[in-house]
Amino acid sequence: MKLKSTVNITLKNAFIKANIDHEPMSVSEATKPEFGDYQFNGAMALSKKLGKNPREIATLIIDNLALDGVVIKAEIAGPGFINLWLNPLWIAEQCSDATHDDRLNIEVNPNPTKVVVDYSGPNMAKQMHVGHLRSTIIGDTLANLLTFLGDEVIRQNHIGDWGTQFGMLIAYLEMKDEDGSVSLKDLEQFYKDAKGEFDANEDFANKAREYVVKIQSGDEHCLKLWQKFINISLGHCEEVYEKLNVKLTRDDVRAESFYNEDLPQVVESLKSDGTLQESDGAKCVFIEGNDVPVIVQKGDGGYLYATTDLAALRFRAQELGAKRISYVVDARQAGHFKQVFTVAKNAGFVDEDVKLEHIAFGTMMDKGGKPFKTRDGGTVKLIDLLDEAVVKARETINNKEEYTQEEIDELAKIIGIGAVKYADLAINRESNYIFNWDKMLSFEGNTSLYMQYAYARIQSIFRKHNGPITGDIVIGDALEHRLAVMLLRFEDILQRAAIDASPNQITTYLYELVTLFMRFYEQNPMLKDGVDEVTKMSRLQLADLTAKTIKQGLDILGIKIVDKL
Ligand code: ARG
Repeated sequence: MKLKSTVNITLKNAFIKANIDHEPMSVSEATKPEFGDYQFNGAMALSKKLGKNPREIATLIIDNLALDGVVIKAEIAGPGFINLWLNPLWIAEQCSDATHDDRLNIEVNPNPTKVVVDYSGPNMAKQMHVGHLRSTIIGDTLANLLTFLGDEVIRQNHIGDWGTQFGMLIAYLEMKDEDGSVSLKDLEQFYKDAKGEFDANEDFANKAREYVVKIQSGDEHCLKLWQKFINISLGHCEEVYEKLNVKLTRDDVRAESFYNEDLPQVVESLKSDGTLQESDGAKCVFIEGNDVPVIVQKGDGGYLYATTDLAALRFRAQELGAKRISYVVDARQAGHFKQVFTVAKNAGFVDEDVKLEHIAFGTMMDKGGKPFKTRDGGTVKLIDLLDEAVVKARETINNKEEYTQEEIDELAKIIGIGAVKYADLAINRESNYIFNWDKMLSFEGNTSLYMQYAYARIQSIFRKHNGPITGDIVIGDALEHRLAVMLLRFEDILQRAAIDASPNQITTYLYELVTLFMRFYEQNPMLKDGVDEVTKMSRLQLADLTAKTIKQGLDILGIKIVDKL
């Protein structure tokens, strides 16, 4: 249920009844509990337009406000603010409905948008490194979120599988892999060795160059080697996706090479509408207000990253029919996307009404505030980082005797991976952030463990209760009221997070929710002697809805929960 819109409707009805000839501004969440649940601060702005003083307008609105359904009390504060209190009977009923609904009463978008989410996109010549973490999990969260809200989501993994370096790599693969057993377990090393050979051995270097030309002209033998290399490399990525609980599959791969045949046509079409200019033999598009042009074809005939992205944009808009295309890519590529979007729109590859967005994110830093590196200055392989997370998570639970070894293994994965993901998603994505093991693996604070712990704690309440839950939710005190309203705000939060593509709005909400629940739980016992049956049942239901909300929230973030912790 969209809580804020519902409150806004009540307000709008008051405007109509009072003959106020203006659309009401939206209410906002109250900044303090004393101010009620929502505030309307629009009377000041209206006062200028309507030529009345703000308190007069506020009074007029309140006098015409229906106080029996959604809103039960309204008060004027200060120069003309209106504080609004929601009706406890109504919120109780809404919470009750939500507990009984699989989707927690969250609407499925009646007008779904077709959205392409482009994320992860690792380069096949190298191992996935920590830089790919953010794209992969922010993108996956966005795709999960939009899917949950009812959009038609097409995940696209734009892997880098084309380029001159593959000539060298496949020549080396052929040389080393006579018996077909090379696993390329360490792609980094393989790349280094191939490069070493390339620099030291003239014959090999010539062969590598020859192989570049051969793959490009469709030579069967070379393409086979290339395909083999890509398959193994992609297999490594899939291992990471699996560990990360990310939904990308092979079906979502639409690699750079997929667009090869479209590239001449992209250039041709830019040429025919007169946007193409030659500069030093290269074919370029100049964009107004930009000194640096977009190069779409080099003097030697080779195409570039931008050319492929233009072809991909055209494909996504025209073949896939996307109306929103979201690129979850490092902030350092902002210039690239700005240019490519402009060229694609100007060239008519993409219609005006298609929303193109670069979902930019900052860099992961080490404790010293420098980009994250290994001790000897190399890039940190993502798989190593994830394995380390599991080892560290195991340390936090190892002393718990109630678990079997198998349970500890499983738990360590859920906690460790959850911690890495949550710590990343909880940051405003455009900021750089400091990677900190101790902080992310803490039971306290805005961490996944805190959420997982709260969820498990609620499950333990239910195990203790061990019986049916009946009756209605009855809002007893102010804290219960706040918890219920917080629970009902979930859909508004998800909607906002989807528009802004900001996972951290979800984590911030979960943190507020769980903090509030923990207070509620301390002050309002459920299973203690002396709690009457009606109160007990009501509180159990609020706890149930809290658990379901945590679970749904974490599920969108791709983080698992456990029943016991
Ligand atoms: N392969 C690129 C990189 O590692 C990311 C691809 C992003 N997607 C795109 N359509 N350009 O930087």
